[in-house]
Amino acid sequence: MSFGVQTAPLLISSGDLIADRRFDFARDLQLKGDLVAAADLLLQATELAPGFASAWFTLGEIRQTLGEREAAIAAFCKARDVDPDDCHGASLRLMLLGAEKLSGMPPAYVRALFDQYAPKFETALVDDLGYRGPALLFKAVLAARLAVRKPAFFKRAIDLGCGTGLAASTFAKEVDHFIGIDLSPRMIERARATGHYAQLEVAEMVEGLRGRPETSADLVLAADAMVYLSDLAPLLREAARVLAPGGLLAFTSETHDGEGVVLGEGLRYAHNAAYVRAAIAAAGLTLSRLDDLSARNEDNAPVPGLVVVAEKT
Ligand SMILES: C[S@@+](CC[C@H](N)C(=O)[O-])C[C@H]1O[C@@H](n2cnc3c(N)ncnc32)[C@H](O)[C@@H]1O
Repeated sequence: MSFGVQTAPLLISSGDLIADRRFDFARDLQLKGDLVAAADLLLQATELAPGFASAWFTLGEIRQTLGEREAAIAAFCKARDVDPDDCHGASLRLMLLGAEKLSGMPPAYVRALFDQYAPKFETALVDDLGYRGPALLFKAVLAARLAVRKPAFFKRAIDLGCGTGLAASTFAKEVDHFIGIDLSPRMIERARATGHYAQLEVAEMVEGLRGRPETSADLVLAADAMVYLSDLAPLLREAARVLAPGGLLAFTSETHDGEGVVLGEGLRYAHNAAYVRAAIAAAGLTLSRLDDLSARNEDNAPVPGLVVVAEKT
C-alpha cells in the first residue's frame, strides 16, 4: 500500500441514484478486469450526471490502464473541471501523464486521502512499510545537538503533517509543549487521543506556520510530510521565521538522482539533495545534517530518502 495512491475508490455521490448505481456496477466490472464495459458504464453515468467527478476520475484511470492516453487526459481534465478542489487528485494524474507541468498537491485530495486512511494508517505504515521516519529524525536531532554541545531538550515544538502523532510520541520526553498541524481532521482526532499535543490544528502546514508568531518555536518537525509539497521554499521560509535563534528544523524527504523535484508513480514528490541544500540556504537556515537514509519501504525495498536537520543561527 502506498499513501500516495488512492487504493480504495473515493466515491462522492453524484446526487443521481441511477448514475451512482452505474458507477457501482462499473467498479465491479473494473475489479473483474472488464475495463471496456466498465468505461462504457462510466460514460453512461456521466451522461446522466455530467458533474460526477468520481465517475470522470475512474474513467480516466481505466483509459490510462487501457493505454488510451489522450482519452485518459480528457477524463482527468473533466474530473477536475467539475470538482475544482480536485479531491480525487486528477491534477496529479495529469502531471504524471506529462499533460501538465509539476505543481502543488490539491489540499482537498490530501485531506480525502488521509481521512480515508486514518483508521488503518499506523498498521499500514509501520507494519507493512517498515516506517521509521520519527526514529530517524530523533537520532538526527540528538546528533545535531551533541555536535554543538547543546541539550536535546525543546520547550516548544511544532509537528507539521503530524498525522496520528507518531513523531510526537517519539519526541515526547524531549519536548515541553507540542503543537500539531495537519490537513486531515481524522488524523488530527487520532493525534489528539495520544495526549502528546498541547494544541492541534486542522490546517495546511505552510498556512499553519504563517499563523504562528516569529521566534515562537524551538523545534519544527516534518516526518514524511515534505513528500506532499513540490516547492519546499514557502515552508522553509516560514519555518525559519517561526524558529527561535538556535532552533532546529528536522524533516525526512524522498529523493532521487535526477534534477530538482519530481512526482513519483506513488504520487509523492521527491527532492534531490542539491535542491534541498539550496532551498535551506535560501531560507536563511544553516544545514546541520543531510543524511541519505530511507524512512520507509516500498515493494520490500527502501525508498531513497534524506534526513535533514537545519538550524536557525
Ligand atoms: C505519511 S503521513 C505522516 C504522519 C506523521 N508525520 C508520521 O510521521 O506518522 C503525512 C501526513 O501529512 C499530512 N499532510 C500532507 N500534506 C499536508 C499539508 N500540505 N499540510 C498539512 N498536512 C499535510 C497528511 O494529512 C498526513 O497526515
